[in-house]
Amino acid sequence: MLPTSFLKKRNWSSRLIFDEIANSGWVNPGIDHSFKEFFMADLVSEYDSVNLYNFLYSRRKDFSPYFVQYLDFWYADERNHADGFFELNRLVFGTSETSLLQELQGRTADFAGLDSILSSEFNLLLMFAYDEYVSVKTYKKDKFYDDFGHPGFKGWIKNLIADEAIHFGNAVKILKTYYADKLHEAENVLKMISSFEGGNYKNTFLFDHDGPHFSLSCDEVGDVVIQEILQILCKRQQ
Ligand SMILES: [Fe+2]
Ligand SMILES: [Fe+2]
Repeated sequence: MLPTSFLKKRNWSSRLIFDEIANSGWVNPGIDHSFKEFFMADLVSEYDSVNLYNFLYSRRKDFSPYFVQYLDFWYADERNHADGFFELNRLVFGTSETSLLQELQGRTADFAGLDSILSSEFNLLLMFAYDEYVSVKTYKKDKFYDDFGHPGFKGWIKNLIADEAIHFGNAVKILKTYYADKLHEAENVLKMISSFEGGNYKNTFLFDHDGPHFSLSCDEVGDVVIQEILQILCKRQQ
């Protein structure tokens, strides 16, 4: 039996938060229509976690029990995030459920070319650490929720950011605890991972960094993220 406290998991519901906003008598303060495309990009990005989760599912027998638990916690959170963007689109823009589902269904992922990242649990953990760290940085820039006319919007995105930070922290914890003897390889693996920045997004959940929802410039990803992650990995080692 795994110690339940080893990996962190927050339990909260996007749908509950948006229900509360909808039932509060909230009136749309005139949220700009350009956010529709922005939120749709966030929605599909979070939703594509299903593709990565399913892709890795057949390899669970090869993974450590900690990483299997990591994937289950992570996927449950990403689905909750996708639910939130689903509700956000419906509440703010009145987008019909049918049209949202049409956009989401039938998306297929292409993991070809990502073999070097997906080849080992160690590489996957560094990939999650990198991707989740970048997610925290970009979501933190989304300050516009403050102006949406209800504190629930800000509360919701704060919950979402806290989850992304925990996804990062959980990956670091597994790396530190079970891969301490391999951490000297982390820099080269992270460099290999960041070399995928700038490529076309193929519905894999990974490196979805070229849409309207991605608020970081190219000098805010890559090397600077690698150095920050390495510092955190090393600091906790001492
Ligand atoms: Fe997420
Ligand atoms: Fe995440």
